[in-house]
Amino acid sequence: MVFPEYRPRRLRKNSAFRSLIRETQLSADQFIYPLFVMPGKNKKEEISSMPGVFRVTVDRLEKEAKACLEVGVNAVILFGLPETKDGVGSGAHAKDGITQRAIKEIKRKVPEIIVITDVCLCEYTDHGHCGCLVDNTVDNDATLEILAKTALSHAQAGADMVAPSDMMDGRIAEIRATLDENNFDSIPIMSYAVKYASSFYGPFREAADCTPSFGDRKSYQMDPANSREALREATLDVDEGADILMVKPAVAYLDIISRLSDEFDLPIAAYHVSGEYAMIKAAAEKGWIDGDKVMEETLLSIKRAGADIIITYFAKDMAKILRDR
Ligand code: PBG
Repeated sequence: MVFPEYRPRRLRKNSAFRSLIRETQLSADQFIYPLFVMPGKNKKEEISSMPGVFRVTVDRLEKEAKACLEVGVNAVILFGLPETKDGVGSGAHAKDGITQRAIKEIKRKVPEIIVITDVCLCEYTDHGHCGCLVDNTVDNDATLEILAKTALSHAQAGADMVAPSDMMDGRIAEIRATLDENNFDSIPIMSYAVKYASSFYGPFREAADCTPSFGDRKSYQMDPANSREALREATLDVDEGADILMVKPAVAYLDIISRLSDEFDLPIAAYHVSGEYAMIKAAAEKGWIDGDKVMEETLLSIKRAGADIIITYFAKDMAKILRDR
């Protein structure tokens, strides 16, 4: 049937009809809100390139977690800024490290929220790379052991799920084995399976103070030009024991999200990253776009592409709008 017999506008005539046939819904249940934790007492600092996003001290986390629950966001992902850094990122697995203290604080005060941890060394190394160095290159196999120790220390502190973001080969298997050997076989791994060497991470590196002091991350993060390689990376992580597959960034990689959700039966997460957030905020501040509407359209596009879960700095803002509707 074609025009004039068939008229697509019939089903768009009012808001009730449009809702009736809407294919994609956003839900706060599937948002994860990133939290940056810093040393000190009773402090909250706005990240200049991410208006509305703050670094907070451990004692402020209860408030942050409760603010999430209040709008229906039930999961957070933690990024720690340690007091000191060294060549091998020892702070990442310190028993009383910043992330470990943060996990304990949230689990003690707000136990019902899901606490996820980013497992990586870049915030903890003095050179800012995601692993330890041998001859100025990131040594894959030596890094695995440190990552596994880090994931284990997070689980021991009470984390509900770990999310390795380092992009070393073989890290999912190493982390899974270490968790299992230590009776943490019930802790899932959300793998940053497909993480591109992206310029959209700029504001995050300011927030988490983890810009590499030399070189870049291209020898471990993926080339933005590649899509079949994404399937290979995801396949490896599935075989190694990942429970959730993540694509990062999101909007410039909607095709990758879509391919992964077609090809794999694990839940798919997408990380709408710092630069993606900052661009919307900046244009909205200038009055060039309607920030709330572009936020919603953007998150909807990520969901429509096939993501089940969205990690986003907009989590609370979007959740509030959904709740008040
Ligand atoms: C750590 C890590 C990064 C992000 C999440 N985990 C930075 C990077 O890889 O350089 C970026 C998140 C964002 O930009 O919002 N490796």
